[in-house]
Amino acid sequence: MTHFLNLIDLSADEVKHLLTEAARLKTAHARGIPTRTLAGKVVGLIFEKPSLRTRVSFESGIAHLGGTSLYLPGNEVGLGWRETHADFARTIAHYLDALVLRVYRHDTLDAVAQHASVPVINALSDWSHPCQALADLLTIQELFGSVEGRTVAFIGDGNNVARSLAVGCGRLGARFVLGCPAGYGFDPKFKADYVARVAKDFPAEVNDAAAAVKGADVIYTDVWTSMGQEAEREERLKKFESFQVNAKLLAQAAPGCKVLHCLPAHRGEEITDDIMDGPAAAVFPQAGNRLHTQKAVLGWLLK
Ligand code: CP
Ligand code: NVA
Repeated sequence: MTHFLNLIDLSADEVKHLLTEAARLKTAHARGIPTRTLAGKVVGLIFEKPSLRTRVSFESGIAHLGGTSLYLPGNEVGLGWRETHADFARTIAHYLDALVLRVYRHDTLDAVAQHASVPVINALSDWSHPCQALADLLTIQELFGSVEGRTVAFIGDGNNVARSLAVGCGRLGARFVLGCPAGYGFDPKFKADYVARVAKDFPAEVNDAAAAVKGADVIYTDVWTSMGQEAEREERLKKFESFQVNAKLLAQAAPGCKVLHCLPAHRGEEITDDIMDGPAAAVFPQAGNRLHTQKAVLGWLLK
């Protein structure tokens, strides 16, 4: 039994397999060919934080695969305060075939996964967002033919989305650069993990947005204040002011550069309207790919 908690737990071959499977499922869905790998299965979705893309794409994907989904807000099940994570995990595994969890603290995922006898999928934690990274990699593959050899500049802080994408790029042979204000880069724990398990060359951190996007095939951005960091918002707005993805920044990147964003976007903060709505942006097809990559993950875990 395998969980899907961090992309770093997957080998390059496993990531490639999931992308191939996602592309196959995407084509099958477009052609109306049914895939019923989850027939008779029930998948629980427990979310401590709000979600549009993750929740809806999981629920739709489970329906496409012939399974049933059950959505429960985190406070309703009392995850971590009504009973221990271990007791929660041991109970819920009797009812469900898999559990999709969005949590504030990544150690909640680890604690549940440790005691759950069914697969646990990370639907975003403060540490990582592996479902997002798989969709990002599929999008880059579709846009450029392959991920290998591309340069991806992430403009924002070294957050959950950035960590997972950096790992995905490292696994598939793309160069990843983090453009962020000083003090908002990757933390030492991530660096240690990455160097031990992905590659000796840790992604460069550049404290200047224009320098970070030089030669970039993809500029990626995310909100400056992640869920759970709301108290830091005013300070972050000031610190990240010169890290906005706008027309001037895009002009510094490689010709044909594409812009990605995990969404939701704070238009006028990390990204301008003209970029979000312009020809370089591929953010909505990227959001669409969440459906296909997550269906691949479900099929892989529940095979
Ligand atoms: N990108 C993403 O995970 O979106 P949601 O928070 O809406 O699920
Ligand atoms: N970094 C953001 C991603 C939202 C999908 C957050 O954690 O809020």
